Amino acid sequence: MPLHCLRYQSTALQSFSTQALEALLSQARVYNAAHHISGMLLYRDGKFMQVLEGEETALWLLYSKILHDPRHTDIVMLADEPLPQRGFAAWSMAYRH
Ligand SMILES: Cc1cc2nc3c(=O)[nH]c(=O)nc-3n(C[C@H](O)[C@H](O)[C@H](O)COP(=O)(O)O)c2cc1C
Repeated sequence: MPLHCLRYQSTALQSFSTQALEALLSQARVYNAAHHISGMLLYRDGKFMQVLEGEETALWLLYSKILHDPRHTDIVMLADEPLPQRGFAAWSMAYRH
């Protein structure tokens, strides 16, 4: 199955506490692991940047959920491309603050 990568940035609509981010991440990791999606989430100064890696149909399905998530806005796609090899194979969602 060919691999694909989506990368976007967005602006948080609320200031995320560590607790709120951990809740988001633990839900995301369960979903992503079940759908063979790996990646990384950065959160800094109210902005998110996320890399999603996996099978293209699974990524677009997740992205459509993320797009409609009321916790963020100004979602801008930065990359939508085939991926030769996972960069975050060991991570259902790595996180950096
Ligand atoms: C910045 C950001 C990144 C997110 N990343 C993921 C993710 O990687 N995986 C995931 O399942 N949900 C992620 N979510 C949560 C989804 O937007 C959504 O709440 C979740 O998929 C549940 O959707 P549902 O209630 O329609 O099933 C993210 C939300 C935000 C705000």
